[in-house]
Amino acid sequence: MTQLEKLLNKITDKTYTIGIVGLGYVGLPLMWTFHQVGMPVIGYDIDEKKVENLKNGIPYIKHLGK
Ligand SMILES: NC(=O)c1ccc[n+]([C@@H]2O[C@H](COP(=O)([O-])OP(=O)(O)OC[C@H]3O[C@@H](n4cnc5c(N)ncnc54)[C@H](O)[C@@H]3O)[C@@H](O)[C@H]2O)c1
Repeated sequence: MTQLEKLLNKITDKTYTIGIVGLGYVGLPLMWTFHQVGMPVIGYDIDEKKVENLKNGIPYIKHLGK
């Protein structure tokens, strides 16, 4: 099996963990979308307040999480 096939299989069976750097207006909805379809996803951000709020379930983009 090629590396590409292995990657595609991991995406298909949702065992591929996606990393998103920067949870702003692009990164946060992207992370939410992957989460909603069941993909493991880890988000990174240097803004500690933003990270703390997200950990507490407080998104700054209001329609997310509804
Ligand atoms: N918003 C758009 O419509 C749009 C369109 C095209 C391209 N882009 C590009 O996409 C990128 C993100 O845009 P955005 O609107 O989401 O910006 P944003 O300012 O809303 O979010 C950026 C996030 O990245 C974080 N960040 C900055 N440096 C970091 C680092 N070293 N490690 C981890 N996190 C870091 C910031 O704290 C912030 O939360 C930018 O490069 C922007 O130019 C945005």
